[in-house]
Amino acid sequence: METENRKSRRYGGKGPQHWYTLLFLMRVLKVALRATGQYERGVRNAWDVALREMDLALPRLPAAFDGFTVLHLSDLHLDGMPGLERVVLERVDGREFDMCVLTGDYRTELHGPIGPTMDGLRSLVAGLRSRHGVLAVLGNHDDCHMVGPMEAMGIRVLVNECVRLVRGPDVLQVVGTDDVHYYFTDQAVHALETARSAFTIALVHSPEAYDVAAELGVDLYLCGHTHAGQVCLPGGRPVITHLSRGRRFFRGTWTHRGMVGITNAGAGTSGVPVRFNTRGEVLALTLRRAAGGRSAR
Ligand SMILES: [Fe+2]
Repeated sequence: METENRKSRRYGGKGPQHWYTLLFLMRVLKVALRATGQYERGVRNAWDVALREMDLALPRLPAAFDGFTVLHLSDLHLDGMPGLERVVLERVDGREFDMCVLTGDYRTELHGPIGPTMDGLRSLVAGLRSRHGVLAVLGNHDDCHMVGPMEAMGIRVLVNECVRLVRGPDVLQVVGTDDVHYYFTDQAVHALETARSAFTIALVHSPEAYDVAAELGVDLYLCGHTHAGQVCLPGGRPVITHLSRGRRFFRGTWTHRGMVGITNAGAGTSGVPVRFNTRGEVLALTLRRAAGGRSAR
């Protein structure tokens, strides 16, 4: 689909005109920030990436996975902020996680070379410590030709696929979809349907499939894409969320019909490498079995 420039936007996603407008606005923003002396401050803000620790209470988490740790990275856009991989590794500080997940947008540009992005990603992955490896999905800035190089680095790229971890009678599944912003196909829905059989973490680039995932029984939905607004008004109110739907889920932790969701603010930036009134983040999640949990399903 990508090589033929075909999209599958279930929710009337943005067309090319939207991107041309956005690129124009980015240029205006850059000029305005430089003219007002705010550009350097925005760049400093962008590099001030936070490590956030989160305990998640999940009622259906199987007992064997109580305390399971997940490093969640999103929206690295590595070619837009060269060296960001080193900042991320500094934040993680050699810590080992049970699993590391990447929810897309490794590159800044929508088209073009992938080399610089893959070089940064290779350095990042080489420095991560994860007992069950690194799982990833593609975002709307990514290219299907990244899958091969990423898998050669040891990353398991889930394109509408599922992996299962088994501990005795207990199972934890991770389902990863293709980018639902541009390629929300029936294959993504079929992949999410596996959530009916076991506790499931869904990796989806954007929050836009929140209702389908909740309906199909996903327990934890990890996504990014929005950068929490990246350039926000005072108080963190976003100007642009890049979402066709589910805009209320543009940042932070949320719930929908019993499913817990996290929209990662991303470590990198898109367009202009600045942030205002929002902060990039690396999430260290610990899954906890909430009261009423069960050992298997
Ligand atoms: Fe994105």
